[in-house]
Amino acid sequence: MGRAGALVLFGITGDLARKMLLPALYHLTADGRLDLPIIGVAKTDMDLDALREHAREACGGVQDAAFEKLAGNLRLVAGDYRDPATFARLREETEGKGFLVHYLAVPPVLFSVVAEGLAGAGLNHDARLVVEKPFGHDLDSARKLNDELLKYFDEDHLRRVDHFLGKEPVEDLMVFRFANMLLEPLWNRNYVRSVQITMAEDFDVSDRGAFYDANGTVRDVVQNHLLQLLAILAMDPPPSMDARAQLDEKWRVLRAVQAIDPAHVVRGQYDGYLDTPGVRPGSTTETFVAMRLYIDSWRWAGVPWCIRSGKALPTTDLEIVAELRRPPVTMFRGGDAPPGPNLIRFRLQPDAGVTFDVLAKEPGRQRTIPVPVSVDFTKVLGPMEAAYERILTDAVTGDPRRFARFDLVEESWRIVGRLLDLPDRPLPYEKGTWGPESAEKIAPGGWHEISTTFD
Ligand code: BG6
Repeated sequence: MGRAGALVLFGITGDLARKMLLPALYHLTADGRLDLPIIGVAKTDMDLDALREHAREACGGVQDAAFEKLAGNLRLVAGDYRDPATFARLREETEGKGFLVHYLAVPPVLFSVVAEGLAGAGLNHDARLVVEKPFGHDLDSARKLNDELLKYFDEDHLRRVDHFLGKEPVEDLMVFRFANMLLEPLWNRNYVRSVQITMAEDFDVSDRGAFYDANGTVRDVVQNHLLQLLAILAMDPPPSMDARAQLDEKWRVLRAVQAIDPAHVVRGQYDGYLDTPGVRPGSTTETFVAMRLYIDSWRWAGVPWCIRSGKALPTTDLEIVAELRRPPVTMFRGGDAPPGPNLIRFRLQPDAGVTFDVLAKEPGRQRTIPVPVSVDFTKVLGPMEAAYERILTDAVTGDPRRFARFDLVEESWRIVGRLLDLPDRPLPYEKGTWGPESAEKIAPGGWHEISTTFD
């Protein structure tokens, strides 16, 4: 590890920088957690003053001392990433600044171009390379990209961003599991009947047509964000909380996940998607997917893990629902039907917390009713840090735990490999619904309704 003397931000005038990175840099500066030269690199007509104004707008038009400090730290190297002169100027700008962090918020086709340019100017020594997602398009291309990057930066000096790993509620899952004795004894095939992970977004692909159409839901969020989440939920306790121990355990569980069988998958495409600018005529890219997968381990053998995600769904929520097995003997009635199962809900977005759906006696009646036992982390613990603040802090300090190690990336591509570029047309669904009807059958007994809010 090495704490950076300067942060080099490739793509500083791009979308990701405007929406996420610049605001995060501003908050870190305001909190006194970041104060170092930030050298933006971009193919742009902007000069440094224009870049500072652009950054101010990205940070919500702020006029305070923290922004002035951030603006004072900003530098700009404008130029083409394929032109060695750009990197010669970058070398001058970074001269004497010590350890460098090169953050690549640029399209993936440029990752190795930039890495090569950095190496050509000797900027790959005493330096770390941080690349955004997606890392590869499938297993082969991910390996190829990795080999190219490894020519210039070794694994210790490479970081692959998955911003879900920067989300506090995602990390909370690990704390909830391993800091308490409450859950762990139950958290296995003897007590858990199924686990459902839902990542729903109520908006469509909007102006990201070209990007989205080349990717689809499996590549956009399942291969990375949702399989990382699954790894955290399903892994065994690491022997310690050091980064390597955690990453090793995540790798062990992903290694045990069977490659997903296309027969256990329903793909959907919302009505009207084909009219989106940038989408290919007749495109078979999915905007929704529901799948069932299995983990060949002592802990999870035979337990269905179900994942569904999509655009233009009824809500924007990220929730995990684990259904426990029913007691071996039914002693109580639940209304007219047998009592429902206990559910454990981890809510990650937009709010965060845990709910246990347990059964209680209905007053005055000889039967049970389900009652929620809930804790709203946001209410009890206060506001959480934004994911990109933590990702950028780790990029600067070098802590690898919140990044995707390559062996984990490889496993994830293997797991979804058979679902990529399927030739069949996804099933249509109406915007604002939970995808094609047949997706319901993917989860044994159907999908549990998600809780949508604590209130
Ligand atoms: C991105 C995907 O990686 O994650 C988007 O490309 C998705 O399609 C986004 O909307 C979700 O991230 P968050 O942090 O907004 O939940």
